[in-house]
Amino acid sequence: MNFLCRFAMQTEKIMKVTNNDSPITRHLREWYQQNKREMPWRGTTDPYLIWVSEVILQQTRVAQGWDYYVRFTRRFPDVESLAAAEEEEVLKMWQGLGYYTRARNMHAAAKMIMKQFNGKFPTNHSDILSLKGVGDYTAAAISSIAFNKPYAAVDGNVLRVIARLFAIEDPIDSTKGRKTITRIAQTLLPDEDPGSFNQALMDFGSTVCTPSLPNCSECPLSHTCLALAKNRVAHHPVTRKKNKVRKRYFSYFHVVHNGSTYISRRVKQDIWKNLYEFPLVETTGPVGIEGLVKNDDFATLFGTLPSLNIELADKFEHVLSHQVIFAHFYKVVIPREATFETGGKFHRIDHAQLDNYPISRLISKYLESSSDSCG
Ligand code: ADE
Repeated sequence: MNFLCRFAMQTEKIMKVTNNDSPITRHLREWYQQNKREMPWRGTTDPYLIWVSEVILQQTRVAQGWDYYVRFTRRFPDVESLAAAEEEEVLKMWQGLGYYTRARNMHAAAKMIMKQFNGKFPTNHSDILSLKGVGDYTAAAISSIAFNKPYAAVDGNVLRVIARLFAIEDPIDSTKGRKTITRIAQTLLPDEDPGSFNQALMDFGSTVCTPSLPNCSECPLSHTCLALAKNRVAHHPVTRKKNKVRKRYFSYFHVVHNGSTYISRRVKQDIWKNLYEFPLVETTGPVGIEGLVKNDDFATLFGTLPSLNIELADKFEHVLSHQVIFAHFYKVVIPREATFETGGKFHRIDHAQLDNYPISRLISKYLESSSDSCG
């Protein structure tokens, strides 16, 4: 190779780095090389596995999502096995992660891939975006990590990091704020290995530029951080006023009758759709047993019994993203000889079978504490 040719290649290499890599990008890439966290989905370019990891991590911390990812991908190692599964089994694997719509959507999307894409995970960004439950963030993460395509994946960490670096005043939960930050993230994205850069920003956000007490003294970007320069790190990211949290009052009845109990599946478009639960009375405010006995739904449930052995077994305040459930669990012991007629509304199951049904974290918290107290 002659000198000119070598010179041209060298220049192209330098141009590639200097053209695309801003100082922020360069520092972050260097930081990631030194600080990249090991995770079971890192090192693969299988779009299915990356998809599963990203969906699990959407509302779940890495430490909590890790075991779920391992178990889920062991049972469903590819699109085909997930598509072929019963929804109930998918929900069971998801149990405890919350936000069950994620699992239902993934299951539906796996079926879509089998049908519309002949079982092959789509490589095209707009096809990926067309999958049920896949939004901008997930499509960008899959496109960049699995297919090396230049899409900025903007999650909560990235919103915070960029809002601080550029002292963005628009709220990150507004369309304008999101758009501004996504545009900046897109300009920071290097041509080379955009997937690693996306993950570098996320790791940096969750370990250095954290929501509270960010580690500015050891931050490799502190010299370019506008929020820090203005001494306004705590002010950023700006958010709009929080939506009011909805309060709900659930009274659950853990019926004990000849070693059996009763459950039903939640079918409404509400929280925990398709998960199982004990008979439930929801009220508009707090109630005790005296209030419940005057409640119509309660009367429908237990009105045919000649007498009622009922006691409050446990109470929980269960916090979800936009609601708090004030839950009372009552134990209702029905004598062996009595008949309990539910009009087909509930499944009568052996207690030991409860484990086979997908249930909410709230119900499993109750079961855990009630088994603890039974010794
Ligand atoms: N949060 C969501 N996806 C992530 C990823 N791929 N790496 C680090 N944190 C994440």
